[in-house]
Amino acid sequence: MDLAYMAELPTQEFVERRAKLFEYLDENSVAVIFSATEQTRSKDTTYPFRQNSYFWYLTGFNEPDAALVLIRKKGKNQTALFLRPNDPEMEIWNGRRLGIEQAPNKLQIDCAFPIETLKEQLISLLADIGTLYHLQGERMQNDLLIGEILSQSVKLTDLRPHLDEMRLFKSTNEIRLMQQAGQISALGHIRAMREMRPNRFEYEIESEILHEFNRFGARFPSYNSIVAGGENACILHYTENDRPLQDGDLVLIDAGCEFSMYAGDITRTFPVNGKFSQPQREIYEIVLAAQKRALELLVVGNNIQQVNDEVVRIKVEGLIRLGILQGNVDDLIAHQAYREFYMHGLGHWLGLDVHDVGSYCNKTQNGDRNSKKRDRTLEVGMVLTVEPGLYISPNSNVPEQYKGIGVRIEDNIVITEYGNKNLTCAVPKEIDDIERLMVER
Ligand code: GLY
Ligand code: MN
Ligand code: MN
Repeated sequence: MDLAYMAELPTQEFVERRAKLFEYLDENSVAVIFSATEQTRSKDTTYPFRQNSYFWYLTGFNEPDAALVLIRKKGKNQTALFLRPNDPEMEIWNGRRLGIEQAPNKLQIDCAFPIETLKEQLISLLADIGTLYHLQGERMQNDLLIGEILSQSVKLTDLRPHLDEMRLFKSTNEIRLMQQAGQISALGHIRAMREMRPNRFEYEIESEILHEFNRFGARFPSYNSIVAGGENACILHYTENDRPLQDGDLVLIDAGCEFSMYAGDITRTFPVNGKFSQPQREIYEIVLAAQKRALELLVVGNNIQQVNDEVVRIKVEGLIRLGILQGNVDDLIAHQAYREFYMHGLGHWLGLDVHDVGSYCNKTQNGDRNSKKRDRTLEVGMVLTVEPGLYISPNSNVPEQYKGIGVRIEDNIVITEYGNKNLTCAVPKEIDDIERLMVER
């Protein structure tokens, strides 16, 4: 596959998304979607800017301090963008701005205004509308602004149920970008396997991964990378990455790039010295068998919950074989005895956000989707992770040789008409393949 160094969705795709969203909006309504703002890291320095995913999804515009306003009135739809005006002085210091004049043509929106005028324009727009859509709870300043302008005659409604449902199903263009995110993420992991040596620090390996992401045009990771040697792997969100990697330990790496705003999310677990010990191999093989079975089962018509039930059974049977659990399989499952060793879900939606939006449950009888079940029937175009793991805490009451072993194996798949397609299969996960790659380095 060609790895583009930068890739964008066609502007038309953003236009179509807005058109589709308009179909959901009430007659005589206004929807406001705010951009992200820059976040202070220290004093006057900021974190790298990351656009709000909803705002990006509808605009493809990557500047802070902006808002998209969709106006549906008297059967007519209008899109307005509020953004920072051009300012030669500010642009010399802080970078280019698209500006008011160029925005309508570049982004294919109807009109553009300075962001400073948003409040007054919203007040006049709200005078004769019935519904205001807003994504409450994302940022306090935005909620305050909406609170100030809202009058009693206007109904405040959340836009997310509709937007999330749209974002859950990826277009062909999005899948192409996610394939690249998966491929570049995979290259990062392969580099980590090649560069792994006892006594290197976890953060040195992290830097190798980030280097590989950058080389292929993915400027940022899609979340903080986890490089967890030995028992650090049993801390699910370990990101300190500041310990030396020990000969004889496994290392768990959970890292993915963000490519053109889309996330990759891969985990591999492998030996620091290139060779699995017998106990490591035994735990690893249980997780690998569970992951491969899940990959077979995650297809149209099935759901995450039922596949996870199968994954749990494979793990419990394996843990009984190793003497880590004792008893009857069904009883151990019924009492969730495995939760000590497998305490997270099987996977999550993946997209603009690493834990992407979209409901995990089917509609209930009254048409909503607010049950706690993960019984959402899989459909073509959904993208998700498959990430079973086993974590044997050093403090657990199990045979000595398994203590401190943590294993997770995570791939990203897209549900297709013909099963699923693994976007991250380029990184080895079979024991022999990993050991071979690490000998050849
Ligand atoms: N990297 C976060 C996750 O796997 O959910
Ligand atoms: Mn992950
Ligand atoms: Mn994940």
